[in-house]
Amino acid sequence: MSEALLAVKGLSKVFNADKVPVQALKGLSFAINEGEFVAITGKSGCGKSTLLSILGLLDEASDGDYHLCGQPIRQLSAFQKAALRNRNIGWVFQNFNLVNDMTVMENIVLPLRYNKAVAKSQYRVLAQQVLEQVGLRDKIDSYPEQLSGGQQQRVAIARALVTKPDILLADEPTGNLDSASEEAIFNLFEQLNGEGVTILLVTHSQKLADKCARVLHIQDGELVTEH
Ligand SMILES: Nc1ncnc2c1ncn2[C@@H]1O[C@H](COP(=O)(O)OP(=O)(O)O)[C@@H](O)[C@H]1O
Ligand SMILES: [Mg+2]
Repeated sequence: MSEALLAVKGLSKVFNADKVPVQALKGLSFAINEGEFVAITGKSGCGKSTLLSILGLLDEASDGDYHLCGQPIRQLSAFQKAALRNRNIGWVFQNFNLVNDMTVMENIVLPLRYNKAVAKSQYRVLAQQVLEQVGLRDKIDSYPEQLSGGQQQRVAIARALVTKPDILLADEPTGNLDSASEEAIFNLFEQLNGEGVTILLVTHSQKLADKCARVLHIQDGELVTEH
């Protein structure tokens, strides 16, 4: 069996913001291999976004182990984590998070600015490649506001893909879309997975989860079923 792309063991998270601590994650253990398409489901407040933030290196676990691409995250410096986050992880959010006064092309190449190995002269070609992948080749010079919600999410997915990440983390990416756009975005994820992208999809939609090969179901911060 190949080494897991990502593995957590006994992962816990406690928020101490208020007087009463909130235990958002309670000892989760699982692994995800390269090439998988996994859905994460569960009621609002069960800990899905908290889990994704830790897996995506935006937040830290309170306890437990996390290995990403074979590296023990706990032992990395802030700088090493930032580099890993920028190069190895693609993020897609519910509200797209595009910069409205930048063109589609400028939005897409934002993550490349942190990678000096990519020359600016390559930006347009790289943006064109990922736009082609998400089916929006003619929108490279448009502004986000000129696009539909579904198209904006495609741009956000293109931006997530431009660094050729090992894994795509998507937190309710279809939560703001109508059902036709939801289906189209899901089909795009399936297409990308077919092209070799590993995907972790947080979704409220049972219909979408049912189409994924593997589902992690979370209840009150615990992994209750996995299939
Ligand atoms: N920054 C935070 N500070 C305090 N509590 C938080 C924070 N983020 C999330 N929580 C709490 O952790 C629990 C899980 O939240 P979240 O991961 O956002 O759930 P989900 O994404 O499944 O809706 C909730 O009880 C939530 O209120
Ligand atoms: Mg959430």
